Amino acid sequence: MSEQRERYLEALGISVWRLRTASATTVQPAAEPAPVSAAASIAAGPLEVVAARLVTDVSASPATMGWDELAATVRVCTQCALHATRTQTVFGVGRRNADLLVIGEAPGADEDRQGEPFVGRAGQLLNSMLRAIGLPRSEVYIANILKCRPPGNRDPQPDEAKTCTPYLARQIALVNPRAILAVGRIAAQWLLQTDSPIGRLRGRVVPYGEAGTPLVITYHPAYLLRSPLAKATAWTDLCLVKDLLGKPQ
Ligand code: URA
Repeated sequence: MSEQRERYLEALGISVWRLRTASATTVQPAAEPAPVSAAASIAAGPLEVVAARLVTDVSASPATMGWDELAATVRVCTQCALHATRTQTVFGVGRRNADLLVIGEAPGADEDRQGEPFVGRAGQLLNSMLRAIGLPRSEVYIANILKCRPPGNRDPQPDEAKTCTPYLARQIALVNPRAILAVGRIAAQWLLQTDSPIGRLRGRVVPYGEAGTPLVITYHPAYLLRSPLAKATAWTDLCLVKDLLGKPQ
């Protein structure tokens, strides 16, 4: 078994059995680097500018916005009913020119509280999965289909996803990643506009959007926490991403 595969399995909490030899050691996952907070990186100014512009220019479209204007627009968005129950919006986090864009479903309770995607237990596992292919969290960009938490963590409704999609579409265009990793059924089905089960969507590379960006689909880390046996399958998906990005073995 390769050292990297061992590291991956251990990071994901799967015991690795080894012959006892004098040299056998346990490989520990590397310490987690501090995440880059999108909220912290947004200057105070643009929010007021955008708020003023929204009053006078109702036709402002995310499709032409830069990062700061987009983030500020999302922060005050009231375009669907989810704004009434959120604590705050969850825009996205990470490197704005990342090679890899990770797309999840929607904020959960932890994300709604902290304003950052994937910060709960599923987020910790996502960090380990990314680290196993040589990508610390700070090196990728992470966003969700929805920027607001659906109450009780229910599935996003199609009209909510539709309303929120211009924001994600602009994030995809701005990051312009070399590859996209969609985690979970909801993100995969929405991006590909299909109702195929995730078991049929994962395990291959599909071109996404007009740019034909390579898209890989894998299981949601929250699912992997409930079904640890699927972690081995998810590893094969992550290897596709690693190969796309030319990461060494
Ligand atoms: N699950 C998601 O899909 N996104 C998050 O940000 C957190 C949990």
